[in-house]
Amino acid sequence: MTQMDVKIEAGTTDLAGLVRSYAADPSGDALRELGRRADEVSVGAFGDGDPAAELEAQRFLYEVYAHRILPPWSPHWRNYTHPAIVDAHRRVGDAWLSRDRAGYGAGLEIPTTPEAFGRWATEVCQTHASGVTHPLFDFLAERATFAQLRDFLGQETPFDIHFGDLVALLLPGIHGGQKIELAGNFWDEMGNGQLAGTHRQLRLDMMERVGIPAEDYLSNVDGYWLEELRMANMYFQTSSDRSLAPQSIGMLQATELVVPGRLERQIEGWRRVGLTEGDMHYLLEHVTVDVEHAEGWLNHVIAPLAATRPDLLPEVAIGILRRLDCALAVCDRAMHDIA
Ligand SMILES: [Fe+2]
Ligand SMILES: [Fe+2]
Repeated sequence: MTQMDVKIEAGTTDLAGLVRSYAADPSGDALRELGRRADEVSVGAFGDGDPAAELEAQRFLYEVYAHRILPPWSPHWRNYTHPAIVDAHRRVGDAWLSRDRAGYGAGLEIPTTPEAFGRWATEVCQTHASGVTHPLFDFLAERATFAQLRDFLGQETPFDIHFGDLVALLLPGIHGGQKIELAGNFWDEMGNGQLAGTHRQLRLDMMERVGIPAEDYLSNVDGYWLEELRMANMYFQTSSDRSLAPQSIGMLQATELVVPGRLERQIEGWRRVGLTEGDMHYLLEHVTVDVEHAEGWLNHVIAPLAATRPDLLPEVAIGILRRLDCALAVCDRAMHDIA
């Protein structure tokens, strides 16, 4: 049985269970318990470093983010607009953010000119342990079975499937050259106007080809690793709150810089177990476009910010570092659980 097959029945007493039971029956008393439990879980997860509490926190954060982004006509939509839910969700997210800001911000020294910051960001991303030198990528390229490659691709769904929407969330209120770069990246996500070429559709096609259920990221969330939910939530958190846009910009920079090399190894693996180039259009597409995105993002989004608001660069750097360490935790978990 794979991770994705395991269905852990979440009790209605955990945060995600409470919020789901509220969506099913708003007249019940789930909301009264929600606020109290949110604070308790926040302390356990982000104060005491308890992995079980963090899993509960990340499942709750994801449950609300992933459903709140849907329109009411989606069959998966759940009404999570109640102020008590918004408030509990915000408090859990804030506890996580303060812990990470304190951790990454302490002693952080970064260059403050556009060129030097760009060099710093590129070097930090290229030398990070989550990159292509992580043993996971040799494993995926050289030894993983079809099922193991599939399990890894399946686990990456909660973040990957939302990527276009996460870029879209960053668009409002940003103008000039930065808008053009964001819009160009978004337009690539949109298949340059061709539905069949949208990155979401390409991913769904590949998922269907290898046997990953398309709706698991909304209806079977308890099969995802803590580390993958953390990754998706990190992007949701920073791209849906404008005050965190600098972190979001840093995270997206890191994504575009590190993804191509890691994908090349997965492509080798998939080819070895029999997939054709057409079957992995999704992966092949990102090897090329993300190299351009990384350069464009650095020169047209981060450099202008560095030139006008160097005081925001520590936040950009925290975004980069949070994202890289999150990716490393995913790699370690994958090696432990899949390999
Ligand atoms: Fe994409
Ligand atoms: Fe990209």
